[in-house]
Amino acid sequence: MTRLVVISNRVSIPESGKPQAGGLAVAITGALNEYGGLWFGWGGKVSQSSTSRPTTVQHDNITYATLPLSKEDYDDYYLGFSNEVVWPVFHFNLGAMDFRLNYAKAYQRVNERFASSLSTLLEGGELIWVHDYHLLPLGKALRGQGVSDPIGFFLHIPFPSYDLLRALPGYRELLDDLLHYNLLGFQTDNDLHAFRQAVIETFDAVVFGDTIECNGKQVRTGVYPVGIDVDELAGEAERSCANEQARQLKQDLGERDLIIGADRLDYSKGLVQRFNAFEALLTHFKHRRQRTMFMQIASPSRSAIPEYDELRRQLEEMAGHINGTYADLDWVPVHYLNKTYPREALIGLFRSARVGLVTPLRDGMNLVCKEFVAAQDPDDPGVLVLSELAGAAHELSGALLVNPYDVHAIASAIEQALNMPLDERRERYQQMIGMLRRNSLFEWRRRFMEHLSQQQADAQSSA
Ligand code: G6P
Repeated sequence: MTRLVVISNRVSIPESGKPQAGGLAVAITGALNEYGGLWFGWGGKVSQSSTSRPTTVQHDNITYATLPLSKEDYDDYYLGFSNEVVWPVFHFNLGAMDFRLNYAKAYQRVNERFASSLSTLLEGGELIWVHDYHLLPLGKALRGQGVSDPIGFFLHIPFPSYDLLRALPGYRELLDDLLHYNLLGFQTDNDLHAFRQAVIETFDAVVFGDTIECNGKQVRTGVYPVGIDVDELAGEAERSCANEQARQLKQDLGERDLIIGADRLDYSKGLVQRFNAFEALLTHFKHRRQRTMFMQIASPSRSAIPEYDELRRQLEEMAGHINGTYADLDWVPVHYLNKTYPREALIGLFRSARVGLVTPLRDGMNLVCKEFVAAQDPDDPGVLVLSELAGAAHELSGALLVNPYDVHAIASAIEQALNMPLDERRERYQQMIGMLRRNSLFEWRRRFMEHLSQQQADAQSSA
């Protein structure tokens, strides 16, 4: 079988032989184990100087090869270009973009270094699968190293509309970089459509079927919505009912309804609007006072970037304000937890909640909302309130869909969720769980790998 090579900015190396928890790590590890393979990327360490010599470790069928980043590369490639330029623009937030020339140079430099380092590990005749926005130029850089095997790229985040993309200095080069892949995968039709539009406007590209022809190159494109492992999650959720933490929470909640949110602390997640929506619920639906508890878990992320630090401060202030205004001797309305919790703990909390609040201002897919649904008790499921601007909204029509900027609409949706009769909750749950089973994590990787293999077969037959 053809060896698979996966490249992502972060590589998740199993600790003490156990694969790491978390949707994508599980999917990628599964594919690598099936095909046998190599996972290459940043090992998460920052070193004094940069090096192109990877450190390798072997677990089962998989070789993990990682490079450290120098302090300068961490600041300029990871925090800088990836997360202060590409991330905000691709999440439709031009105000948060901070473009600097040294960021752009570092982005190119690190991608070139990844390519030259990786090429020493390639054996030829492999399938190469690159992930996410940190590595847009990697395919072209690998071609520069003489790599001729098929290279696929999957974008986990949204693709911005052409008019927004044009605000990103050097966007033409980034688009051209993408045209060096053989297969380009997006989360939703919207993202694929936006990409097509951008290459048509910029390069007069021609689209026929799934293929884009441009500047003498042909690229196949497709939509592959990332999913979850429903059975694994549902099993975990069922087991969680028995643990001490869940029993304690149940006791603490008493008759109260739990509303839950769990996100990385990121401005794209719509947390400020969500806090305002909960306050609007307490103001406009007064009977919810004393009877509901809003728990927001916000795991720290990219905290060296000013916008992230400012958001942390703002949320602390908002939680304090709501509690200061509404709390009573026997009731604290907002439980704000600025910490990372293990996945099992989150799944247990999802199972105990009546409402899952997932209201990003933009999101490529969002797996939290899918995990929330899979964690529900099928006989007595909670209700998902979901942003219509998350990729997952295209699949989860059983959720109550809201505009994440419309604080009053979110508050009303929470109220509707808390009043929803059991029959309707079950019906909505069935729609969503059926969809999650059809578009599972395994289906996502199976289809992408199948299409990438076809590229290889086509190349071989035309050689
Ligand atoms: C998003 C991105 C991933 C990234 C993750 C965590 O889901 O699509 O590529 O790994 O956020 O962010 P971090 O900056 O900690 O890697």
